This record gives sequence, structure tokens and C-alpha cells, in this order.
Amino acid sequence: MMELKNSRIDKKELRGDALEVLAENLEFCGNPGLSLAFRRAASVLKSLPDAPRRLEETQHLPCLGEHSRAIIEEISEYGSCSRVEEILNDERYRTMKLFSSVFGVGPKTAENWFCRGLRTFEQVLNDPSIRLNRMQTAGFLFYEDISKPVSRTEAIALKIIVEEAVTSVIPSASVSITGGFRRGKEFGHDVDFIIKTPEAGQEDSILPAVIERFKRQSILLYSDLQESTFDLRQLPTHRFEAMDHFSKCFLIVKLKGEQETGRDWRAVRVDLVAPPLERYAYALLGWTGSMLFERDLRRFARLERGKLLDHHALYDKATNTFLSANTEEDIFTHLGLEYIEPWQRNA
Ligand code: CTP
Ligand code: MN
Ligand code: MN
Ligand code: MN
Repeated sequence: MMELKNSRIDKKELRGDALEVLAENLEFCGNPGLSLAFRRAASVLKSLPDAPRRLEETQHLPCLGEHSRAIIEEISEYGSCSRVEEILNDERYRTMKLFSSVFGVGPKTAENWFCRGLRTFEQVLNDPSIRLNRMQTAGFLFYEDISKPVSRTEAIALKIIVEEAVTSVIPSASVSITGGFRRGKEFGHDVDFIIKTPEAGQEDSILPAVIERFKRQSILLYSDLQESTFDLRQLPTHRFEAMDHFSKCFLIVKLKGEQETGRDWRAVRVDLVAPPLERYAYALLGWTGSMLFERDLRRFARLERGKLLDHHALYDKATNTFLSANTEEDIFTHLGLEYIEPWQRNA
């Protein structure tokens, strides 16, 4: 308690984290709309250099509703918030959090298992009426490894492996790290790569070839290849879609190296996306994230600029045309914004 009183930094994180617990719980309760409101509020708090000390200081902050401000006030006064404590101790929340921490288990499956009275992994794995799909099977099999954060050093080691596989198939293709690591994060839950191929059509053949190569090298532990469903005629989309339509794959690969476990490899989650060349800038922007930044940028484009932005394109409603872009800079220019560096996109 004393410590909390003396440290503004700690309190700031405490408040942001508290709002994130509320957001997560709302997601588990099937209320994504309200959940998003709390995620935005948490993100605003975390972006402040100093935590607000009094309620009045939160008055002019964006995205903070009455509810969020009440929680901030309670934490500044008592060091904790009773509603958050209640959620953290709630059996349903704890079980949903545990189950959805498994790769391949979303809120629906987690809820289903909870409603059947299951509370532990052991109970799930021993329940004869439960059939795990391939993704969930891999999720349990490699649970420990893929729950462990991936370091930047590991991400760079993986980049060399992915690059080697890609250029052995198409020598003039290139690979870039995207996702959280591109935003400068030191750790991630996976490593995201975007592949640039010089000729039309290569974006469809490169991923199956990389997967084949990883198989032959005996480093492929799981793969889910999603072929392209990209079609410019179906754009633009008005709804926020987390998923894009490019050719992509979700993998678990073996990364060699001495581990604390005594093994000489660990399992790591890797995502690869291969957009058509003329879509590259949009795909890069979309895959760099963060998810919240993407949402906010799209909302800004729509409300402030009358343009529809998604993973694939930018559509100008005033002229009914798609705006082309070779680089991310082009996209920000179309939106009338100064370039926003990847490390400034950690919303
Ligand atoms: N993404 C996507 N399609 C998916 C999954 C992710 O387009 N099926 C995009 C998201 O829009 C996000 C980016 O890929 O902006 C990275 O997603 P993810 O790896 O989940 O998150 P990170 O920001 O990289 O965070 P972490 O370090 O936890 O991986
Ligand atoms: Mn999950
Ligand atoms: Mn990632
Ligand atoms: Mn990812």
C-alpha cells in the first residue's frame, strides 16, 4: 500500500491493467463493444508520461468514460478496485482466461468447456466427449513453449530461417519483420513476417513452398495455410475485419538453441503473409498493428477524411476511387497525416 502511494508509475500501470481486466471480462461475456471502450481507455492511460493523480486531471483525456474514471479514482484512493478484484477472483473469468490461453481456443470454446463444468487442462484432456481440432491439439502439445514470450534475438534468428527459405525459392523476394517487433517491442507472443514478391502470382506459390521446405528441414510442428481470397471487387469493407484476405499461414516451428528445459530447441509461433506487390504497403500497415491503432486509423479515415481504409486498400468515397500506394508514407499522405513511425503505433 505504501509503495503504491509513493509510486506514480506503478499506479499508472495498475490503472491501465485494471481497465484491461474489465475489457477482457467483457469479451468473455460476449460484449466486444464495451470491451473495446475499456481497451481504448487503458491504452490512453498507458500512453501518459505521468499518471493522473486526481480525478479532475482525467477530465480532458480522450476515451475515458464515467466508468473508467470511477475506477481510476477508486485505485488512486485505495490502491485497488473492488470490481476488478472481484473479477480476478471469479471462477468463470479465471477459467475462461486459462482455456483461451491455448492456441486455437477462442472465447466460444472456452465458454463451452466452462459450462460443461471443466476447470483444468487435465479435465479437458481427459474428457472423452471433447474432440480437439488440429489447432487445439498443437496448442496443448506445445503449450509451455508457445506461452513463453519470444525475444527479439529469437525473432532475428527466425528471420534468417524464413529469409533463407523464401530466397531459395524466389531469389529476388524479400522478408521483413512486422507486428509487435516492428513496433519496437522487445518480446512478442509470435513473430510476424511479410513477404514481398516481385512478380504477380508469386504471392500464391511462395507460402506452400516455404512450408514444404520447413517440413524437409524437420522444423515444422504445425501449419495452417490460408490461400488468398483477395478480390478488389469486394472492397472496400465498411466493417472492421481483423482478418485480411491475403495468402498467409499460421505456423509453429522449431527454433534450435539451448533451452532452460535442457532441450536444444523450442517451439515458436510464426505468422507469414504474402500480399500481391501492388497491395504491399497496405498489407504492411495492416500487419504492423497494433490492432487498436489500426482500428483508430480506420475510424479516423472514415470520419475525418471520408475514406475507407482496410488491410488491402484505401477508397475515396468522394471520387469513388481506390488510392494507390507504394509505401506506408503514401498512405499517410493520402490521409493528410504526417508519417507515423511504427514505434508510435503501440496503442
Ligand atoms: N493480423 C492480421 N490477421 C490475422 C492476425 C493478425 O491481419 N489473422 C494483423 C493484426 O491486424 C495485427 C498484426 O497482424 O495488427 C499483428 O498481430 P499479432 O501478432 O496478433 O499481434 P502483435 O501486435 O504482433 O503482438 P504480439 O507481440 O502479441 O504478437
Ligand atoms: Mn486463444
Ligand atoms: Mn505478433
Ligand atoms: Mn501474429
